[in-house]
Amino acid sequence: MIGIFDSGVGGLTALWELRRLRPDLDIVYFGDTAHVPYGTRSPEMIRRFAGEAVGFLSGLGAEAILVACGTVSSVALPALSEHTGCPLFGVVEPAAEVAYRVSKNKKIGILATEATVGSGAFDRALRRLGPVVTRSLACPLFVSLAENGFTAPDDPVARAAAEHYLAPLRESALDTLILGCTHFPLLAAHIHRVLPGVRLIGAGEAAAAVLVEETPRVGHGELAVFASDAPDRFEATAARILGTSLPVHVQKYIPRRIQTTAGRYTDTIRKRN
Ligand code: DGL
Repeated sequence: MIGIFDSGVGGLTALWELRRLRPDLDIVYFGDTAHVPYGTRSPEMIRRFAGEAVGFLSGLGAEAILVACGTVSSVALPALSEHTGCPLFGVVEPAAEVAYRVSKNKKIGILATEATVGSGAFDRALRRLGPVVTRSLACPLFVSLAENGFTAPDDPVARAAAEHYLAPLRESALDTLILGCTHFPLLAAHIHRVLPGVRLIGAGEAAAAVLVEETPRVGHGELAVFASDAPDRFEATAARILGTSLPVHVQKYIPRRIQTTAGRYTDTIRKRN
């Protein structure tokens, strides 16, 4: 079983890509809605929340975990191996590699959260690949817009936010932009409108492609979704964003019930395998 987590609905962009590429995989998705947003918090707090999420997924029997969060991937990835023995897949290197490969002029932008931009993780990953000019920009409001369902291509609030944040990049000659926060592909139409002709690379989608290459095991396409608070709201937001219902009911992750839930879920998977 593959575990995926994010602070909220952003990681669904990675989940959908993973299911598109490998519908056979068994997946547990965890949205840490009790603590969203991550991107404006301190590295210590991000590490603590991410550690709990990894511990939860590991306890459910995850054989690999996709850290579908640019913020956690940028500031907490090495620290997370303390909480699990299974392989962890972050989004920074995969997104940097795709962006570097597709960029013709090697002028690459990074849109992400404040914590991610402050860490410089994407810039470093790009520079490791070769000569490059980077420009990073924090767009924290995009996370709230996505979490509250303000993502429709004609949404005036999202449109105004995109204009506000991205206007400084209009004359920048970037040909590629990494959406370094997994929430941001949900606003791709708005980003495109302000920066037409710039290639957008979703960090979660890039990481999902790497994970499937390294995950030979086949499951039965089971999906379980957990949220750490307000699961009904999470389910409704996800459905509104995606224009469809989640194929499963979102369950609340309550720490003292981990054992019961984990036992039930892993038993189902084991029985079928
Ligand atoms: N989607 C996450 C990221 O990729 C977290 C955003 C947030 O909670 O601030 O950075």
